[in-house]
Amino acid sequence: MSPRQRILSGIQPSGTIHIGNYFGAVENWVRLTKDYDCFFMIVDLHALTVDYDPRRLPQRVWDAALDNMAAGLDPAKCTIFIQSHVPEHTELCWLLTCVTPLGELYRMTQFKEKSSREGENVKAGLLCYPILMAADILVYRADAVPVGEDQVQHLEFSRELARRFNGRFGDYFPEPAALIGRGARVMGLDGAAKMSKSMDNIIGIGEEPEAVWEKLRPAKTDEARKRRSDPGEPGRCNIYSYHKLVTPEAELAGIAAGCRGATIGCIDCKKIFHRNLMKVLDPIRERRRELALRPDDVRDALNDGARKARAVARETLDGAKKLMGLL
Ligand code: TYM
Repeated sequence: MSPRQRILSGIQPSGTIHIGNYFGAVENWVRLTKDYDCFFMIVDLHALTVDYDPRRLPQRVWDAALDNMAAGLDPAKCTIFIQSHVPEHTELCWLLTCVTPLGELYRMTQFKEKSSREGENVKAGLLCYPILMAADILVYRADAVPVGEDQVQHLEFSRELARRFNGRFGDYFPEPAALIGRGARVMGLDGAAKMSKSMDNIIGIGEEPEAVWEKLRPAKTDEARKRRSDPGEPGRCNIYSYHKLVTPEAELAGIAAGCRGATIGCIDCKKIFHRNLMKVLDPIRERRRELALRPDDVRDALNDGARKARAVARETLDGAKKLMGLL
């Protein structure tokens, strides 16, 4: 039997996983654990690249671990760990830094966006962020990386870095393919920007139903639909794009027709979405509550994950060092 292909992905500890993370990536991760050898991590080292509060970071990492496990990542079926517990990532990162042309880093969209927000305070770590991400992937010689659309450029960068390394030192790293989730780019509640914790436009997967409703009620719909009797256009409505993530086909068709024919108002439409979303989020919230009562099990799973990850990462790193001529 041929060995299973390997998958790697990661998520920042940004406080809470939102439905963009979930439908863009994590839902896909859970599905992939059935057929692939999967490695998933909380990328605490990436979180250091922008201004942050060191007193709050441990809780953020812990919350991310609970959220991921509650969302369905089962430590018995995949390797789940905290990035900084596997120092091989940063060691490979340095080796790759020495094959990365500086100009390529300045071209990264995420660097341009985040560095403009950080102003004078921008760190070299933010510029080198994509090298660490490439190291995360290549240190497992991953075949594929499930991500949302916003990470595609970083993934292309990782492929390019693998090609450069292979061209210079010999064929070693596979070029990792991107696997894009169902919600490739989930927009924020404002309908204007991608859903993102830093934009404060999110629905967290652990939020209580009432809190989610309070956010949905004023959320943007089709702006041309001013009165309930105005016909709407689902293609212009952010809530309709959310429906596509959770609402069954047949019901979806009815909602689109009801919007166009003005038989369903925006509030009714949001209520249906809320109900369908909660069918996905209720069990996640419940599992999270249970996991929070068993912190030792969660900690053991993460330690175990780091041990397994290190064994694989060490082997790859040793091979790369040898190829680069290190004794
Ligand atoms: P992060 O933490 O920003 O996001 C985690 C995953 O969620 C996806 N995502 C979205 N998908 C759809 N719509 C959205 N609004 C949305 N927001 C986020 C992201 O595409 C991502 O898949 N750099 C990465 C973390 C990382 C990583 C890696 C990923 C570090 N090393 C190695 C893969 C492989 C990041 O900041 O993701």
